[in-house]
Amino acid sequence: MANVCVITGGGSGMGLEAAKFMPKDKIIVISGRTMSKLEKGVEELKALGYTAYAKTCDTSSRESVKELVAFAAELGEVKNVINSAGVSPAMKGTQEGILRINALGTVYINQEFSKVMNAGSVIVDVSSNSAYILPSMIIPKKAYALAETDEELFLKKLIKRSNLAKGEYQRKGFAYSLSKNFVVWYAKKCAFEYGKKGIRVVSLSPGLIATDMGNLEKEDGGMLIPFSAEERMGKPEELGFALATVADERNGYLAGVDVLCDGGSTNGIKEFKKKK
Ligand SMILES: NC(=O)c1ccc[n+]([C@@H]2O[C@H](COP(=O)([O-])OP(=O)(O)OC[C@H]3O[C@@H](n4cnc5c(N)ncnc54)[C@H](OP(=O)(O)O)[C@@H]3O)[C@@H](O)[C@H]2O)c1
Repeated sequence: MANVCVITGGGSGMGLEAAKFMPKDKIIVISGRTMSKLEKGVEELKALGYTAYAKTCDTSSRESVKELVAFAAELGEVKNVINSAGVSPAMKGTQEGILRINALGTVYINQEFSKVMNAGSVIVDVSSNSAYILPSMIIPKKAYALAETDEELFLKKLIKRSNLAKGEYQRKGFAYSLSKNFVVWYAKKCAFEYGKKGIRVVSLSPGLIATDMGNLEKEDGGMLIPFSAEERMGKPEELGFALATVADERNGYLAGVDVLCDGGSTNGIKEFKKKK
């Protein structure tokens, strides 16, 4: 049976770059909300010698995720899922929209894919180094478990917390950081749950990367660049390689952790604050 690798948010950015580092004997399914983008991605992958398919999916809808799972499982055994779909504060949308896509979308992807995945398979959830910027005392960690039991209350509590920020961009930024902090927490939770079935779950947190999203966020998100080891943004292909290697079956002992791939900027700013 053929091995299938599914990449949400695979029509652009680091998701599409990750596909280009996957072994060529896998069937690649890239998904996102915009078919024209996915078709272009599939063309690129086919030109590189991949067997690739496009499937639209809005990860903030469980029904849509179920359709993606059925599509992929029909093609072969789903071995790798890279959940790179996400939206950021500078994009159109609301705090709720950010939380629905980045946080609840991760719940739907992990829950629905884990139903068809077997031992030796892997889910990589893409978080962000902004998961690390909030002081722990203002993170409503106790509300996180509600994502699986009472979605509306989960959203209400996280939106209320993000409303503590002043200004629309800052409130959306706060919601984004919370959504990504949740992704780290949830991936870890799933790792210990699905680990019993032999499914490996890892989150990966990029720093500021020069994708469409990263370029949009450069003005405000760029404040960490001077604290990174090389004082630069990351390249999409560097993150693509990191995602593909974390998702590789040969990396079988990497589970239940967050891989912080941010050029050292989170640690750089910590050191700077300590010296001050
Ligand atoms: N670039 C950075 O600086 C940076 C830093 C930290 C973390 N990240 C995270 O890295 C991931 C990839 O981002 P990127 O930088 O590669 O940006 P990107 O090129 O904008 O990729 C994000 C992809 O997600 C898709 N998407 C958005 N909402 C979706 C939804 N509801 N359902 C399915 N797909 C959806 C988008 O396609 P459609 O709009 O067509 O659906 C897009 O292809 C995101 O999770 C992001 O939060 C990025």
